[in-house]
Amino acid sequence: LDYYREHGISPVAQDIGDLQRHFERRSSLYHSLGIVPSFLRGKAVIEFGPGSGFNSIYTASLQPSRYVLVDGNPTGAEQTAKRLHEYGANPKSFEVVHSLIEEYDSSERFDLSICEGTIPFQLDPDGFARKVGSFCKPGGVVVITTASSASVMGETTRRLIANRLMRGCDTIEDKLSRLRPVFAPHLATIKNMSRPVDDWILDNLIHPWIGKTFGIDAAINSLSDTFDIYGASPDFIQDWRWYKDIWGPTKDVNGRAIRSYLSNMANFLDYRVELPPHSAEVGSAIAILCDKIYSLMLADGAGDNNALAEAGDLTRELARMVQRISPVTAESLHQAAEYARDPNTGSDGPSSFTSFFGRGSQYLSFIMRQT
Ligand SMILES: C[S@@+](CC[C@H](N)C(=O)[O-])C[C@H]1O[C@@H](n2cnc3c(N)ncnc32)[C@H](O)[C@@H]1O
Repeated sequence: LDYYREHGISPVAQDIGDLQRHFERRSSLYHSLGIVPSFLRGKAVIEFGPGSGFNSIYTASLQPSRYVLVDGNPTGAEQTAKRLHEYGANPKSFEVVHSLIEEYDSSERFDLSICEGTIPFQLDPDGFARKVGSFCKPGGVVVITTASSASVMGETTRRLIANRLMRGCDTIEDKLSRLRPVFAPHLATIKNMSRPVDDWILDNLIHPWIGKTFGIDAAINSLSDTFDIYGASPDFIQDWRWYKDIWGPTKDVNGRAIRSYLSNMANFLDYRVELPPHSAEVGSAIAILCDKIYSLMLADGAGDNNALAEAGDLTRELARMVQRISPVTAESLHQAAEYARDPNTGSDGPSSFTSFFGRGSQYLSFIMRQT
């Protein structure tokens, strides 16, 4: 947030030139999360961190009777209010509040509390998730996003490269000019990307990440005292039990979802593949290694001269760990380690690393227990 405010930016734009397509995407997301369109009509919704309101116009189109939007970036709050007016939201139904989420307080409770793209990389993501959950009515729904060090390994490896490429650049514009030609071709490999390249670079490579990743297991654990997981995008949760067996102390939907998550870690690491589940133990081992590489990337950004070499060694170790499960991921990780060591090696044409991205952010919905 300090980064956005310091530069007077809200780099969260989306291409919504084709509004129908944008709304269909949002509708598909809500479908996966179990939010049927009629759920919001006449209901109360609160959204934390709406950015510039690109996604909020879809939520407003589902006609909640009350829609509160809280953002700490004055540029974003202003653009959100403007966009909601522009796209025909009923001015009496919505209220944009310029406030830090940590400082926001209200006795009002909502049928839906949503916080998208904001909790991961905060200093205290657990506390943040609980704060978002605290505004939900019993029986209502909370939607939050997660991003683990495995799912952002594509960004982590590119940040190690970007740290070297940005040397000697003072301004954001200089950094953008240096990074754009290198990474625009990587983003061009992603079908259906709706974010402008410069916004992605500002947010993922130049933005001085200091906070913590927030994986699906951490998110579920942070809310499990009062919430049960409901839906997810991508939809990774499998539960083959007969519904009549799901009650009382054995209900454990949250524990089951965490096991589904761990057994799919390789799928979160590389969005290009769709692999059968592996063991939860392998998933945990991948996650631990990715956490270490993520920490080394932060240390490298903070000027630790030894971090890059160690990050390279662990990236190669990760490649060996996933070699049998996903050979293309292993190949990309080897190339990433080489490229980070010497950024000049990666500029000669397409490589498997060019299209290597994880399943960055995931969405989870939860129902607040009624007792
Ligand atoms: C990455 S953007 C996500 C925007 C939008 N929800 C989306 O998914 O496209 C994060 C938003 O959260 C806001 N934000 C981040 N930390 C905040 C905080 N502590 N208090 C209030 N707003 C915050 C930022 O200003 C920004 O608008």
